Amino acid sequence: MSSYQVVKGARDIFPDEMVQWNYVEEVICRLAGVFGFNEIRTPVFEYTELFQRSIGASTDIVGKEMFTFCPDGSERSITLRPEMTAGVMRAVLQKNLFASAPVQKLYYISELFRKERPQAGRQRQFTQFGAELLGASSPAAVAEVIMFMMQVFGELGLDGLRLRINSLGSADDRRRYREELRSYLAPHYGMLDQASRERFEKNPLRILDSKNPDMQEIVSGAPKLHEHLGDEARRDFDQVLGYLAGRGIDFSIDHLLVRGLDYYSYTAFEVSCTALGAQDALGGGGRYDSLALELGSPKEVPAAGFAVGMERLLIAMQKQRLLPEAVPPGPEVFIIVPQQEFFDHAFDIAARLRSAGIGTTIDLAGRSMKAQLREANRMRAASALFVGGDELASGLFPLKDLASSAQEALSLDAVIGRLRHASIIKTRQP
Ligand code: HAM
Repeated sequence: MSSYQVVKGARDIFPDEMVQWNYVEEVICRLAGVFGFNEIRTPVFEYTELFQRSIGASTDIVGKEMFTFCPDGSERSITLRPEMTAGVMRAVLQKNLFASAPVQKLYYISELFRKERPQAGRQRQFTQFGAELLGASSPAAVAEVIMFMMQVFGELGLDGLRLRINSLGSADDRRRYREELRSYLAPHYGMLDQASRERFEKNPLRILDSKNPDMQEIVSGAPKLHEHLGDEARRDFDQVLGYLAGRGIDFSIDHLLVRGLDYYSYTAFEVSCTALGAQDALGGGGRYDSLALELGSPKEVPAAGFAVGMERLLIAMQKQRLLPEAVPPGPEVFIIVPQQEFFDHAFDIAARLRSAGIGTTIDLAGRSMKAQLREANRMRAASALFVGGDELASGLFPLKDLASSAQEALSLDAVIGRLRHASIIKTRQP
């Protein structure tokens, strides 16, 4: 027992659960390769202005959810990243990656930090897998990021998914619409809740996706964003939808979908899953051509991407019984040392086996032979190798198959040959 507990809103992932995480991550990395996305890692903190400029000063994330601090009085304020998109764009612009290739396709599995009220599926430290396609935002590029995301879900076998999609139009479309929406909402101002009043001036579009039924009622009579889209936005949206339909991806158009980050234009989307409770948003994303300009780039960088909450993904998979058993793989061989005076010899043998690439465990706690055998079985070791005084004198070591209990005394070279062969066959298995 320790007097310390894990910080509220964060959680430990132990080896048994890691087996499940690794399984999901392996599928993500493999499909990233299939779609041509390469992995990127960026620092967990960035200068605070990066997020203020990109996510938007009026958003919940920037307004109240960021972990921000000054490392020392004289330095600039820094923030633990609440999302990845801004940091990835910053990194690519800083390194001028576009000089070598005009389209950059990057993916990540990374930890994020948001100061939200913790509850099931909502943490203060959480993990996202996501992808950013920078340098193109044609309908095909937007469709491609959605296809990557949906193929991951498909490969994992997830059910009960709902992909909602909307077009937020161009910046001009939204400017015109914002004015109309404000005129409509103004006579209802007295009935708006606190959050909506705050959004009324700064970003009235966010009132559209309020979860408050009273707000939804007011908004139901509001002018519709999709009726204010210009020709270009309409054409672009139709093409994105055409690509998705052509690939057999189910979606529904949700004209009220706005998203909680300010950098989107044109297509935005969200995926939810019926297996999740109140926090049913599994992932989301969209197109964000003007983010680079906000970050000081002299020109626009067409871009689109998405991110999916890993913890929520695992919760949904757990509920749908899609996760592998949470048991870490056992070693190939567990070395049993019946008499501790021969431990050092056994330790040398363990080193030889490991040098030969054989997964080897040896008891380090000086336990009895019975306890060592029990431990070997608990760990699901494939076999046990006995190294005692007699064995060292004769040069023949009993190797016991723990599944069948078959046992054979072999020279060390024969043991290595046998176990190597077994581990090659095991790694070849799908
Ligand atoms: P987001 O919608 O803020 O988008 O987050 C994406 C996903 O991260 C959510 O759907 C949810 O599954 C998960 N998530 C968010 N907050 C939490 C939390 N407190 N606890 C657990 N899971 C959480 C973005 O972050 C954008 N950067 C997505 C994107 C990428 N857009 C373009 N490129």
